[in-house]
Amino acid sequence: MRSKRNGTKHQTALITGGSGGIGLELAKCLAQHGFDLAIVARTRDALEAAAGQIEGKYDVKVHVFAADLRRREAPEAIFDFLHNEAIPVEILVNNAGFGLGGEFAETDVTRELEMIQVNIAALTHLTKLFLPAMIKARSGRVLNVASTAAFQPGPLMAVYYATKAYVLSFSEALAEELRHSGVTVTALCPGPTRTDFATSAHVTNSRLFTLFGSADAADVAEYGFRAMMEGTRVAIPGFKNKIIAQANRFAPRAITAKVARIAQENR
Ligand SMILES: NC(=O)c1ccc[n+]([C@@H]2O[C@H](COP(=O)([O-])OP(=O)(O)OC[C@H]3O[C@@H](n4cnc5c(N)ncnc54)[C@H](OP(=O)(O)O)[C@@H]3O)[C@@H](O)[C@H]2O)c1
Repeated sequence: MRSKRNGTKHQTALITGGSGGIGLELAKCLAQHGFDLAIVARTRDALEAAAGQIEGKYDVKVHVFAADLRRREAPEAIFDFLHNEAIPVEILVNNAGFGLGGEFAETDVTRELEMIQVNIAALTHLTKLFLPAMIKARSGRVLNVASTAAFQPGPLMAVYYATKAYVLSFSEALAEELRHSGVTVTALCPGPTRTDFATSAHVTNSRLFTLFGSADAADVAEYGFRAMMEGTRVAIPGFKNKIIAQANRFAPRAITAKVARIAQENR
């Protein structure tokens, strides 16, 4: 059942990690364009604060669901919640994700396995669950938040870069499979962006974050929203990021790995 306010039907967008950073800005963009929202993150207070902020400004309904995507059963729980509430999802935004800096031989394996679960497995599982209804309706959009990290190996953040390479590859493959289905898949590949990401990944002092300049999360979200609505398969916000991603396509992998290492090192 779609909500009706002011006589208009609203479609619903599900956004993981919709309580902060790029996800919250994507939520605001979608609300601004009239979409109802279902936002997911671990911290209920932050979700409710985000929902209050958005509902106070836009004429949309925001459903909140607290879930930890490190848990394998979380995608099913999110799907069941929305199914039981009779909320069809027209747009799926797989945004939640995190990183971890450091030499792979020394980093915490538990956190890295959790990262693979959130960045890769939960994104894949949610897509698997929500896609069939979109295909049946011959309408729907999936926005997967990858990173410019997807375009090269990432020494000193090896697992994170590899998870984002997966997100990009998976999204491009799926977009091709779905090309005549009415459903589009977009991989958004931001460069460094001002959110809580760098602090939680322990990379605030890396050259990437200190020397290269970081983007505003609202600008990244706006770019991603537009690309998703246009059905663009790979969206790289920022001229510099586009150039670097293109250069990485042609340069030998050994060179791109060395350059990435320099970017990941502390100043
Ligand atoms: N910021 C950057 O420089 C940058 C660059 C490229 C790509 N990205 C990608 O952009 C996406 C969003 O990152 P961000 O920069 O906006 O990060 P952020 O500011 O740290 O926000 C992360 C969001 O995800 C939620 N989240 C984290 N772990 C979760 C879990 N286990 N289960 C459910 N929700 C979880 C957080 O809420 P709770 O903590 O309450 O769960 C929060 O809402 C990520 O996929 C990231 O890899 C970021």
